[in-house]
Amino acid sequence: MKQMAFTYQSGLSSESVTLQNKIEMAEEIKDTSVISIKNLNVKTKDGDILKNINLQIPKNKIIVLLGPSGCGKTTLLKSLNRLTDLHKELKVSGQIIIDGQDIMKAGQNLSAMRQRMGLLSQRPFPLPASIYKNVAYGLKLKGIRSKKLIAHSVETNLKRVGLWNEVKDRLKSPATSLSIGQQQRLCLARGLAVKPTIILADEPTSALDPISTKIIENLFKDLKQHYTIILVTHVLRQALRLADHVVFMYYGEIIEQGHPDDILKNPKTAILKKYLVDGN
Ligand SMILES: Nc1ncnc2c1ncn2[C@@H]1O[C@H](COP(=O)(O)OP(=O)(O)OP(=O)(O)O)[C@@H](O)[C@H]1O
Ligand SMILES: [Mg+2]
Repeated sequence: MKQMAFTYQSGLSSESVTLQNKIEMAEEIKDTSVISIKNLNVKTKDGDILKNINLQIPKNKIIVLLGPSGCGKTTLLKSLNRLTDLHKELKVSGQIIIDGQDIMKAGQNLSAMRQRMGLLSQRPFPLPASIYKNVAYGLKLKGIRSKKLIAHSVETNLKRVGLWNEVKDRLKSPATSLSIGQQQRLCLARGLAVKPTIILADEPTSALDPISTKIIENLFKDLKQHYTIILVTHVLRQALRLADHVVFMYYGEIIEQGHPDDILKNPKTAILKKYLVDGN
């Protein structure tokens, strides 16, 4: 397990904070949650990665996951589209209900479920193919054959992520020839092309310059009209700019959650206070 830079010195017990937050969250979002996580635990033989996570994620909002390195943010995102299945050493238990279906139950159509969720990972993973084919890939998988439709989607989605002008004259070049920041935007365009309803974005701007970061942030603000976005970031200002709801995690647990103004400007626990001071 990674070493973490913080020690837990909360004045309030995490149970009382969690309970209070659960009540507030339940009142705030009542029937609008698109994802409901109940008692989610992820363990390895060496210990717990996620401990009893309970979280309601409402539709058309941006939920920001915050917390020090190694606290389980990526693991939580991976649990949501069952990428944790690829790691046999992980034991996952609990319920994850997405649009009324428990995705943890056997017999789920995993590829259909994953298509509804665009995952933008911490490091970009372009396919070993051209820029064009990277964006067209998901459409072909969905059975779309029309070259005109595919070309239109490639152009539209590259424009949405602010990449079109940079690549329009080299669409046949390998995606790996792009810079890391360009690859990250390409992967976002690839994800958007298959029209997911939920976007899981793991530090999507960590490799980007300020201009590309602004493009992606504005895009997310725009996208939330149609999508639910779960975003991991270490950038507190980004959380303030984008979040409708902030979840602060520490050592695999949710310590505090709520409106960004409460969480980031008026934290209750000593550990979050320290995190915010050190993070600024
Ligand atoms: N497949 C695995 N096997 C064993 N341990 C794992 C596995 N995946 C993650 N972990 C451990 O679980 C903890 C949480 O990892 P995770 O990647 O979810 O953290 P994170 O909050 O995303 O961190 P960062 O901010 O550095 O990306 C870490 O200690 C990590 O080493
Ligand atoms: Mg991570």
